[in-house]
Amino acid sequence: MELLCFLVFSICLLFSPSRISSAADTITSSQSLSDGKSLVSSPGGIFELGFFSPGISKSRYLGIWYKNIPTPTVVWVANRQTPINGSTGSLMINSTGNLVLVNNNNQTVWSTNSSKQSQSQRPVLQLLDNGNLVLRDEKDANSEKYLWQSFDYPSDTLLPGMKLGWDLRTGLNRRLTAWKSPDDPSPGDFIWEMELHEYPEPVMWKGSKEYLRSGPWNGVLFSGKPAKALPALNFSFISNEDEVYLTIDMVNKSVLGRMIMNQTTSTPYRQEWIWSEADRNWTIYATFPRDPCDSYGHCGGNGNCDLSSSPICQCLDRFSPRSPENWNLNEFSQGCERRKPLSCKNDGFATYPGLKLPDTTHSWVDKSMNLKECKAKCLSNCSCSAYTNLDVRGGGSGCAIWFDDLVDIKQMPGGDQDIYIKISASELGGKDEKWKIAVIIASASALILGMLLVGYCCILKARGRKYVKGQDIEEQKDEDLELPLFDLTTIEGATNFFSVNNKLGEGGFGPVYKGRLVDGQEIAVKRLSRSSGQGIKEFKNEVILIAKLQHRNLVKLLGCCIQGEEKLLIYEYMPNKSLDYFLFDETRRKLLDWPQRFQIICGIARGLLYLHQDSRLRIIHRDLKASNVLLDRDLNPKISDFGLARTFGGDQTEGNTNRVVGTYGYMAPEYATEGQFSVKSDVFSFGILLLEIISGKKSKGFYHLNHRLNLIGNAWRLWKEGRPLELIDEGFGNSCTLSDVLRCIHVSLLCVQLQPEDRPTMSSVVQMLCSESALPEPKEPGFVPEKDLLNGEFPLINNEPSSNGLTITQLEPR
Ligand SMILES: *[C@@H]1O[C@H](CO)[C@@H](O)[C@H](O)[C@H]1NC(C)=O
Ligand SMILES: *[C@@H]1O[C@H](CO)[C@@H](O)[C@H](O)[C@H]1NC(C)=O
Ligand SMILES: *[C@@H]1O[C@H](CO)[C@@H](O)[C@H](O)[C@H]1NC(C)=O
Ligand SMILES: *[C@@H]1O[C@H](CO)[C@@H](O)[C@H](O)[C@H]1NC(C)=O
Ligand SMILES: *[C@@H]1O[C@H](CO)[C@@H](O)[C@H](O)[C@H]1NC(C)=O
Ligand SMILES: *[C@@H]1O[C@H](CO)[C@@H](O)[C@H](O)[C@H]1NC(C)=O
Ligand SMILES: *[C@@H]1O[C@H](CO)[C@@H](O)[C@H](O)[C@H]1NC(C)=O
Ligand SMILES: *[C@@H]1O[C@H](CO)[C@@H](O)[C@H](O)[C@H]1NC(C)=O
Ligand SMILES: *[C@@H]1O[C@H](CO)[C@@H](O)[C@H](O)[C@H]1NC(C)=O
Repeated sequence: MELLCFLVFSICLLFSPSRISSAADTITSSQSLSDGKSLVSSPGGIFELGFFSPGISKSRYLGIWYKNIPTPTVVWVANRQTPINGSTGSLMINSTGNLVLVNNNNQTVWSTNSSKQSQSQRPVLQLLDNGNLVLRDEKDANSEKYLWQSFDYPSDTLLPGMKLGWDLRTGLNRRLTAWKSPDDPSPGDFIWEMELHEYPEPVMWKGSKEYLRSGPWNGVLFSGKPAKALPALNFSFISNEDEVYLTIDMVNKSVLGRMIMNQTTSTPYRQEWIWSEADRNWTIYATFPRDPCDSYGHCGGNGNCDLSSSPICQCLDRFSPRSPENWNLNEFSQGCERRKPLSCKNDGFATYPGLKLPDTTHSWVDKSMNLKECKAKCLSNCSCSAYTNLDVRGGGSGCAIWFDDLVDIKQMPGGDQDIYIKISASELGGKDEKWKIAVIIASASALILGMLLVGYCCILKARGRKYVKGQDIEEQKDEDLELPLFDLTTIEGATNFFSVNNKLGEGGFGPVYKGRLVDGQEIAVKRLSRSSGQGIKEFKNEVILIAKLQHRNLVKLLGCCIQGEEKLLIYEYMPNKSLDYFLFDETRRKLLDWPQRFQIICGIARGLLYLHQDSRLRIIHRDLKASNVLLDRDLNPKISDFGLARTFGGDQTEGNTNRVVGTYGYMAPEYATEGQFSVKSDVFSFGILLLEIISGKKSKGFYHLNHRLNLIGNAWRLWKEGRPLELIDEGFGNSCTLSDVLRCIHVSLLCVQLQPEDRPTMSSVVQMLCSESALPEPKEPGFVPEKDLLNGEFPLINNEPSSNGLTITQLEPR
């Protein structure tokens, strides 16, 4: 904190624009603006032009910044690449009407250089209230006829009213280029510009590599940008013979806002900032990229990036991976191909709703065609692969078509534009054909099912016999176990005979040890307490089931070991321990900035969604909490201990148990008081976890409505009082996107509502986190009055702060 204050303070000091004479607002050719002597102010006092030194730099630059904003915020720099040493630069209009910046040796370091200037008799320089520095003839003082304007040469900032894009008449391309660093305004690696494809679209470049696209304009929005219910910034897009550009304006004209290309963060962002008069500070309103699906071509050609699925890359319907092997290894770059290749003679179209429109590098448009003509156009060209309306307003008009592979598609929650993709007619099928296919499929599946049943019975019989013959594990080794069985001696070697030094932690199911196999692989070994009454066979079946749950946000079970009394589970080792290790530690919490936390939130949500919905088992975790979220080397979240409650908790089938597995502070009221669990009690725990991640505070103990120290009570109070942002952990400072944090708080309150049926499912949670559509108002959260807790005989209390990465759901002692 001290360091931060120091930095902020020193930036203010070093920024030091010299303010000596009173501000002038016009410079004529007989005057000059000298460093250390004067500043030019816009008439309404919003912007100011002068010399400054950014950050710790000592070089001087001519720039424009907000006049009355305490945080130095430079929006334009003239001599980005040619700083002036020393402080005696000056700006003047020379005799040919050019704007010239000279150093103390009268050498020109920067100048304007159009030929227009010389046509002017009396050029004057003015700074306008929108931040535009303009050179114009004195007689044109009230017109928009400029000899030169800074808006034509943006630095890293797009102000309302600026154009980002092309003047096709002059070939002028206005684009944003990030500063190299906060101390150096020279052009960095990241550029945000309008690509002049047939169907133009804005693109972010990293050097010469395409980094992100926001999708082409569809008449209402850029198709990869979620619609905001109540936007503060209004985007518009103009494309005609003379110009192709986008522009922003503020919905409330008295609010200050700006869009910048910023590469000083770990992930370079295009950010939208809004000045909050109440806080006297800038707040991030939106950032781009928002999620992994925004990174260019993440899922390869014809792959669809869908945050609510796992893995997030899926082939489009009727397509399959080009390389199934790589695809299964989560290597998606080769993309997908049509299951049935196109014939170019007998093809049709299938409708795909709600997609971000593909990369328009190979595209073609016609404003006057209707959808039917567009379809005919696409059918007539063999390399055409898809078409859609150019403008979705008023029922749709115009035609846009794509050639070859469709690249960089993303499923947009709430997106309502359809794209029509060319598909072999045999994949589409008429009614008759469909029926025929159905019959064939039905009879084929009946046959297969029958064969499977017979086979299964045989296997069961065989197994049964074996099991009866001798209850020895060794004998079952020849069954095709999908889970490696480790040898006890191997594990003893790896953990140094379960040495105390290797112990990572202790939980209700038994202690956890760190180990290293002979081949160097690090493992975590859970040594299950002997008291678990389960038979070896059931245990093994369960473990095999758990091992089949594979998702990148779940900890991977590598194998097990059953020998004599010992039952061991072997997991991959997570070097970064668990979420609570970071979240609730004064210094480590600072390592998790907002983008990082948002990533973690989304990961946990996807992992839980998989458990609830996508896995074949429909697992209810029952003990989701910060210490059960482990972090890998790159701080990706991995849920641990899933399936264990199922294995050890007993009484699952009823959805009701008198043995409650869980942790106070995370438990849904209906579960804590009546032992009723469901996917919705997990959703409740997720809501609590979300609040913890946002606030950096621990949810503990019982819930009490009036208890201000209680996380959930406090969150609800702040929400009702309209001050939800006070919940935010100071640790992530201004790295946060206000709208995202607000949305997360909103979602968390929806998750912790009293009635399970009011709480969203995990799939809606994932959708809500990723979209920007309006959310329902939350009802009062579930509180547990102390007297209602399972009449005091709560068997499982797991409130101990976990000092290690691996804790285990506590189980009642038997
Ligand atoms: C300013 O200083 C830098 C580094 O000290 C030097 O590289 C540059 O040439 C100087 N520029 C001028 C115009 O003297
Ligand atoms: C005015 O500045 C421009 C740009 O540096 C230069 O080309 C031109 O020669 C200058 N005119 C005079 C009279 O110095
Ligand atoms: C710079 O140019 C101005 C005007 O041309 C002149 O008055 C001044 O003496 C010059 N200064 C130096 C250091 O050459
Ligand atoms: C001057 O014109 C040249 C050529 O048109 C261009 O490359 C250069 O960037 C221009 N300089 C400024 C300061 O506008
Ligand atoms: C957004 O801008 C467009 C075009 O300038 C305008 O028609 C529309 O009314 C604006 N919307 C809002 C909410 O300001
Ligand atoms: C616009 O913003 C100003 C300053 O924040 C505020 O006072 C005003 O109420 C806002 N107007 C509307 C219509 O929201
Ligand atoms: C199909 O479209 C592509 C791209 O515009 C073009 O190069 C090609 O000539 C077209 N083919 C036919 C047969 O029209
Ligand atoms: C602005 O926000 C930053 C980060 O949130 C904070 O460090 C700074 O103190 C704030 N400034 C003011 C004037 O509130
Ligand atoms: C760039 O982003 C960082 C982190 O969000 C922020 O602190 C900084 O102020 C941003 N730069 C500008 C010029 O807004």
